[in-house]
Amino acid sequence: MKIVVIQGPNLNMLGVREQNIYGPMKLEDIHAQMKAFAEQNGLEIEFFQSNLEGEIVDRVQECMGDADGIIINPAAYTHTSIAIRDAISAVQIPTIEVHLSNIYQREEFRHTSLTAPVCAGQIAGMGPFGYHLAMVGMTQILNEVQMMREQQAKAQEQ
Ligand code: DQA
Repeated sequence: MKIVVIQGPNLNMLGVREQNIYGPMKLEDIHAQMKAFAEQNGLEIEFFQSNLEGEIVDRVQECMGDADGIIINPAAYTHTSIAIRDAISAVQIPTIEVHLSNIYQREEFRHTSLTAPVCAGQIAGMGPFGYHLAMVGMTQILNEVQMMREQQAKAQEQ
């Protein structure tokens, strides 16, 4: 089973940008922890970061037929991008949205997520640990998918 992690604009600046909001941890360190978790649980994992909306749409589309789960932090595009929402909705792959900060505690324009309604769930406000929680949640979803596939295969045999 394969998980693709997609990171939106300015998340390449974690550890430098607004540390009072996002903390000191760099994106590569978050990804190293996620990779370790994936390896421990026999999961394949790939990482992608872009500051461009269209590239994020492309990467979501590429997941079709390739990935079993998506973990995405669309960053500022969360609040603006119908295109990313439509891409998530189109590929029909279980997706978990992550935000380091609690977007509901911040400026009003961050209170709306256009992408969350087409995701299996959203984790916000837990800092980098939110990505670990997303990995745990995704593992559970993928286990359920696997069990359903096995049950369907058995039913077809009978
Ligand atoms: C963010 C929250 C967004 O509102 C913001 O634009 C980001 C990061 C977060 O992880 O807390 O860039 O997605």
